[in-house]
Formats: sequence, C-alpha cells, structure tokens
Amino acid sequence: MYRVTLPVTGTAEAWRDRARALISAGVAPENIVWHHGQPEADLFGAGEPLPQGAGAVTVPKAFLSLANLVLWHRDPERFARVYAMLWALQRDRGLLSDRGDPRVARLNAMAKEVGRDRHKMTAFLRFREVGDPDATRRRFAAWFEPDNFIVEPTAPFFAKRFGDMDWSIFTPDLTVHFDGKLRFAPGKAKPPLPQDATEELWRTYFRSIFNPARVKVKAMQAEMPRKYWKNMPEAALIPEMLASAGTRARDMAAAAPTMAPARAAKVLRRVHADQALRFESQDRFRVELQGCRRCPLWENATQPVAGEGPLDARLMFVGEQPGDQEDLTGRPFVGPAGQLFDRVLADVGIDRTTVYVTNAVKHFKFAPRGKRRLHRSPDRGEIQHCKWWLDLERGRVNPGLIVAMGGTALESLTGTRDGILRRRGGIEQTPDGMKVLVTVHPSYILRLPDRTRQAEETARFRADLDQARRSVG
Ligand code: URA
Repeated sequence: MYRVTLPVTGTAEAWRDRARALISAGVAPENIVWHHGQPEADLFGAGEPLPQGAGAVTVPKAFLSLANLVLWHRDPERFARVYAMLWALQRDRGLLSDRGDPRVARLNAMAKEVGRDRHKMTAFLRFREVGDPDATRRRFAAWFEPDNFIVEPTAPFFAKRFGDMDWSIFTPDLTVHFDGKLRFAPGKAKPPLPQDATEELWRTYFRSIFNPARVKVKAMQAEMPRKYWKNMPEAALIPEMLASAGTRARDMAAAAPTMAPARAAKVLRRVHADQALRFESQDRFRVELQGCRRCPLWENATQPVAGEGPLDARLMFVGEQPGDQEDLTGRPFVGPAGQLFDRVLADVGIDRTTVYVTNAVKHFKFAPRGKRRLHRSPDRGEIQHCKWWLDLERGRVNPGLIVAMGGTALESLTGTRDGILRRRGGIEQTPDGMKVLVTVHPSYILRLPDRTRQAEETARFRADLDQARRSVG
C-alpha cells in the first residue's frame, strides 16, 4: 500500500507529480491512500516508499481541465477519484466523452461545484478597509467561507484585480495575504473586521440597482445564496427590500408617468449630491469602480477606466468606452481617437487639463483576433448598467455643459441616439436637466475612408468644440 500526503498549498501540482510517478510505475488506484495536509494518526504505518521519477504519461486535454477543478473539491475522495480516472484513461482514452459513465458524471458534477464556488468567491467577497488610509498602499481585508478548497486557485484573480493595494482574505481553511506577492498561511476563525464607508457605498449601489418590479426571489437566492449574506453589507437590505417590493413596485408604477421633469431633476440632483459625498476623493471612486460587476464586460477587460479631470470642471466630455490603449493604461482618450481629440481641443484653445473627460462605458468591449483586440460597440444593457457610474461622475463634477461624443454617449445621456447626425451641434438636456451638446465621436472621423471627408468632418468637430468652449465662457 502507498500513502501519499499532499501539502495544503501547491496541492494540485503535488498531486500531478505523485500521480505521474505512480501511473508510470503501474500502481493501481486501490493500492494508494491519499491524504491532504497532515495524515491522521496512521494505524497502518508509513506505507511503501513512493516510486520516483516518471515516464511519459499522456492524457486528453479535457482531463487536465477537469482535474484542475476537481482537485480543489472538498470531497475527501477527490484525489483517489481523479487518480482512478487517470488510470482508466490509460486503457480507454475516450472515456471522458461517455457522460453516462458514473465516474465521469461524478467528476463533472464536482468540477461544476468548484467552478460555481469560485465564481461566488469572486462575486460575493467584500473587502473592508483596515489600516491607515493615508499609507502609500491602502490595506483591505475580507472574510469568506467557501464550500471547497478554492482559495489558492482563486487568489491570482484578486491579485490581478486588486494589484494596487495590499489585502488579506481570511477563510477557515487558508489565509492569503497580498502585498505585491501572494503568501499563504493557515486558516483562521473570522477576525473582527471594521465597518467602513465601502459598506455604505455597497448598500447605496445595491439599493440603486434593485428594481422591485422585476424581483424574482428564487432566482436571486439561487444566485446569491443566504450563506454569503452575512458578509455582504448590501445583503442587510434584502429582507426589508423584498418585504416592501410589492408596495414599492405599485408606487413606482403610479409615480412613473406623473413624475414631472422638474421634480425628477430635483430628486436626481439630490441623489447625485448624496452619492458624490460618498466618493470624497477621486481615489475612492476609482477603488469602487475597480470592483464593478454590473455587467460582464469587466471579465475580459484589463481594468475599468474612470474619467479624468478636475472635479470643478465647467466642461465634461463623454466618449463611448475605453479602447485598446485606454484599457492598458487605465486612462481615457489616449489612443488614436484621443490624439485627434487632443489636437482639436488645442485648435479651439481648450486646455485638456481643465476639462473632465470620461466615457459612457467604463470597460473595454472587444473580440480577440489573433493578437489583436477588435473594438465591439457596447449594447443597450451595458450602456444602461454603466450609466450608474456616469451619473455619479456627472453628479460629482456638475459641469455647465456636457459634450456627448457619438451615439453611445448620446444614448446614455439623453436616452436615445436616433438621428444623431441631424441633432449634431444642438444643445439638449439630460432627464435631470444638464445641458448636452451633441457631436460625433473622433473615431467616426478616423474611420472615414476619404481624406476630403475627414477634413470636412474634422472642421465640423472643431466648430462643435468651439461652440462648447464659448457656451461655458
Ligand atoms: N474611444 C472612446 O470613446 N473613449 C476612449 O477613451 C478612447 C476611445
């Protein structure tokens, strides 16, 4: 009998090494006992010495992806199950496509559970600020209780997303610290974590996206199971919001058609001012934006791109979404469209450092083509989801005039992009009464195939920006 003890971290890698050696030596699954961490008091001794070295073992690619998930499951038999599959595959390479095979079905189910658990960790973990807010790197901590041993494989996700801050994630099985490098330590009981402003912000966010007319309690609880609620600041609102959903939906239906624009403007201004206060610094806004999961665009983008410029700017420019270079640098309008924009700003005498420049959508939407990432236009839902951020920026800056550059910005600001070329040069209003000057997007000019048309359109764009400058004085 062979006894294999796998370390608490580096588990999957260690399993692969041992499994390769054991398979090469022809050791059958029934002759191996697998342990994770310290083995319990061993009644049967240390077992035979493990075979060393390994011959070439080939496995289907699908097995590797399956094993990479199943090895993090909490089932005590997981290592033995995956090894048994590896053993069986040496004799029947097509076994994994037999979905009726109970061993395959069990492994697939386990992989799915691990995948879901990892998704939940990335979606429902909430950091709280700990330590000194004035330190050069801010420090955050979170508590999470995963169903499976997913902390190690999921930690790189957080390192990538929150690479510019220090953080720790505490779980019962494993602790992970990040300070530029990932470090693992044993699990812990739940530490006392402070309530901080981030909590209030999450609540505001949650309240703002909660539409009582569309509430589906079962779907909501399936997606966000109760066990996570206690660590999510916004979840404290769920019972109260569900209880009042019926009344709120009726109130909304009654109020919607009769809400006069002037009153709507007043309410929105108050909400914006209130929300703006919660982002007392540009940094805070950026940190919150980093965690945006309002639509799936965050998954493939490098980072969200916040607006840039003074918070007392009189002029605000809104584009569509970050492009390739903006996504990489984290700054709006720095690529080819940004260069044309800069040139025209300079032509009409606007100093870019005095205006606020942002986008209607904060994450880059693209389709990969080989090494290139081709721009894809955001759809209506994505524009709607991201409007929350743009509205916050508008509330914080409260500009005298917003320049909507292109259809996406115009749709986000006024509700429709129809007839943009007819509307161009005109001044319209957002529903809460901010002035919007309509113009085209600089990329539209860059895409025109003929030079004469490009020159004409650049001249009209220049005239629009000049009008913007004059209108705010
Ligand atoms: N296009 C945009 O709309 N925004 C950018 O930031 C860059 C290109």
